Amino acid sequence: MERLIEAAREALKNAYAPYSKFRVGAAVLTRSGKIYTGVNVENASFGLTVCAERVAVFKAVSEGDKEIEAVAVVAESDEPVAPCGACRQVIAEFNPNATIIMATADGRRVVTANLKDLLPSPFRGDALKP
Ligand code: THU
Repeated sequence: MERLIEAAREALKNAYAPYSKFRVGAAVLTRSGKIYTGVNVENASFGLTVCAERVAVFKAVSEGDKEIEAVAVVAESDEPVAPCGACRQVIAEFNPNATIIMATADGRRVVTANLKDLLPSPFRGDALKP
């Protein structure tokens, strides 16, 4: 858990958040033991912004590493921040029971949760099958 938080904290330096000035770093741990980091990447067209969590998940999946076990999110805020609804749905695609670790950048506050408690009813791909 410490290692994952540290990776997210390290990634935070690369957050691209010139508009909100709210810097976020994330780190995904997969079953293989690998860690993939991400940061929020904002855009002048605000709606195109992508959260740190999704960047980290997409990096893992694009490397063929889909078995997500845990996601850490670190923000420069007084309290730990929870992943937004879109990121919860994206993580649930790969593991609805993933461990979510939320920490402040100074490491003083850490909260953990199971994704199923943050998103009890994700939309499931099997609904699409005939
Ligand atoms: N943001 C994240 O990257 N992750 C979260 O869990 C919450 C929000 C980003 C998106 C945007 O760049 C900034 O934080 C403010 O919403």
